[in-house]
Amino acid sequence: MGHPYWPLFDLEIRTPRLTVRGLTDELAVELAALAAHGIHDPDVMPFAMPWSRLASPELERQALQFYWRCRADTSPTTWNINLAVQVDGAVVGTTSLIASDFGRMRQFETGSWLGREHQGRGIGTEMRIATLTLGFDGLGAEWATTGAWRDNAPSLAVTRRLGYVEQGHRRAIRDDSAPDTLLGFEMPRAHFEQHLRRDDIELIGVEAVKELLGISP
Ligand SMILES: CC(C)(COP(=O)(O)OP(=O)(O)OC[C@H]1O[C@@H](n2cnc3c(N)ncnc32)[C@H](O)[C@@H]1OP(=O)(O)O)[C@@H](O)C(=O)NCCC(=O)NCCS
Repeated sequence: MGHPYWPLFDLEIRTPRLTVRGLTDELAVELAALAAHGIHDPDVMPFAMPWSRLASPELERQALQFYWRCRADTSPTTWNINLAVQVDGAVVGTTSLIASDFGRMRQFETGSWLGREHQGRGIGTEMRIATLTLGFDGLGAEWATTGAWRDNAPSLAVTRRLGYVEQGHRRAIRDDSAPDTLLGFEMPRAHFEQHLRRDDIELIGVEAVKELLGISP
């Protein structure tokens, strides 16, 4: 029996290797603890906001506040769907779909991270494909976008390997200090359909989420 009011709690993407689930409070706590355990080399900030450098328990608290804020601000106009990525029942990271005016734009951006000990084993690639499957096949998007700092080799490798087209770069403040270069990428629906769609990825609970987000067929 699903949640009576909040279908994002019941959203799932199943791949042979991963289960990707809508973020409940329990999963959010596991994710916050994983983040505090370490996501990246402290000397190199992969995110636009340097939240991952906070000390515990401030890091976990701010992570929870961010997830609650995203949930509270969900509307048909703007959404940031945070999902927990599990391997054999344990949370290993997160992937998100972010959109503004999806009804007209039919476009979503993705973001993700894994706990450090889970990186470099293909999970990032698998969870990106899972996220694209939800966006294109589940929600009916026409475009996906993503971005990374110019030196984020693993993130850029996943993006390039999946065949996104580089659309440009822009300067932005990194790590509260110096400006740096962010690379932006996009993928049209046709590329996903021709090269990335798989028949071993299952979407669960999507129709109710579409209703919540005001997405018409
Ligand atoms: C980005 C991230 C989600 C990718 O997940 P992952 O499981 O590590 O990625 P995968 O194992 O699927 O693939 C990593 C790719 O990076 C490549 N790679 C890893 N380190 C590299 C390096 N130093 N230089 C060049 N390529 C590198 C791997 O060879 C692989 O590419 P390939 O499949 O073409 O061989 C993960 O590394 C992560 O959480 N990083 C820290 C947080 C972060 O950067 N988030 C993204 C912010 S934009």
